[in-house]
Amino acid sequence: MARSIDCNKLTFSLYPHAHEMKMYESYYLNGKWDKGAIVDFHDIPLSPAANVLNYGQGIFEGMKAYYSVKGKVVLFRPEENAKRFEKSAYKLAIPGMTADKFMGAVQDIVKANIDFIPQCDDGRCSLYLRPVCIGIEPLLGVRAAKEYLFYIFASPVGPYFDKVGIVKLLARNINRASPHGTGDAKAVCNYPVTMRPKQEAIADGYNDVIYLDPIKNQYIEEAGAANFFALMDNGSLVTPPLGTILPGITRESVIELAKKIYQMKVEERDLSVDEVISRARECFVTGTAAIITSVSDIGWNGKIHNINRNQYQLAHQLYEKLINIQLQKESDPFNWVRVVQ
Ligand code: PLP
Ligand code: COI
Repeated sequence: MARSIDCNKLTFSLYPHAHEMKMYESYYLNGKWDKGAIVDFHDIPLSPAANVLNYGQGIFEGMKAYYSVKGKVVLFRPEENAKRFEKSAYKLAIPGMTADKFMGAVQDIVKANIDFIPQCDDGRCSLYLRPVCIGIEPLLGVRAAKEYLFYIFASPVGPYFDKVGIVKLLARNINRASPHGTGDAKAVCNYPVTMRPKQEAIADGYNDVIYLDPIKNQYIEEAGAANFFALMDNGSLVTPPLGTILPGITRESVIELAKKIYQMKVEERDLSVDEVISRARECFVTGTAAIITSVSDIGWNGKIHNINRNQYQLAHQLYEKLINIQLQKESDPFNWVRVVQ
């Protein structure tokens, strides 16, 4: 029976009734994936020597299922998550799986939790899906595991940041990824380095951190869980280039919208914090969880710089467009939305 989930109370956290929901699981044993099954949400039995616990061999994805205004259950560009999962798996020596297996599991988990999809017409709430794949073989030496668990759990969620729509970010001389490292994979090992900086930033009144490039420590890479954009004084929309950052699906969608719907000039290039502070009229971050969130202030070198000369106009415009496409309020010119059958 459909749950009545109060959207105003939802935050981006694990649903307290998660144990009443379903999860998907599939094991890779003896060199092949099993068929996989939908089961009750449950704790996972793991050896203390499981590879993921000791050496971090794990990857994940983040996706959202919504009720569209047409009453359909929809996903946004799930094939892109399947492709990125496969690339992340390759990078961490995790065995691949067919896109059909990934997509089938995603559809199954949405259908199994259909009663937990929040009804909300502005895109703030959704059923968040978390596909994960971890090395579970117990071992001591450092090497790729021979046994894996691929699972997906779901949780009704609200906005990612506590303050809806606008955040203060602290730019810090901290690198979350290095060239030829794992920054471009959605690997669990990329996130622990962000935890102390984020804790300290929050204690200082910020919402999150902007991480910088590992060579010159002056170019913006991304925030802890979102990509970065700046609208410059000449009207160009600038975002850091791919390489060490996560190739965000929202990032790519925003680039498409800006170029093809709003005929904007979009540059994917190095962008220093100093340039943003002196030239940006507006900044925002993008991600599945963060959607499009405006940046009001950037802390840098001991000062707080207000970045709001454009009153968040572009972020609002892009947010509306993206959410309207996702919720089938508008036509879908890029064929991004998939209906769960
Ligand atoms: N950057 C990082 C580090 C992330 O964890 C995420 C979230 O997935 C993103 C960027 C945004 O990616 P996407 O738009 O695909 O959710
Ligand atoms: C997402 O946006 O889906 C993410 O995976 C970010 C997450 C680290 C909270």
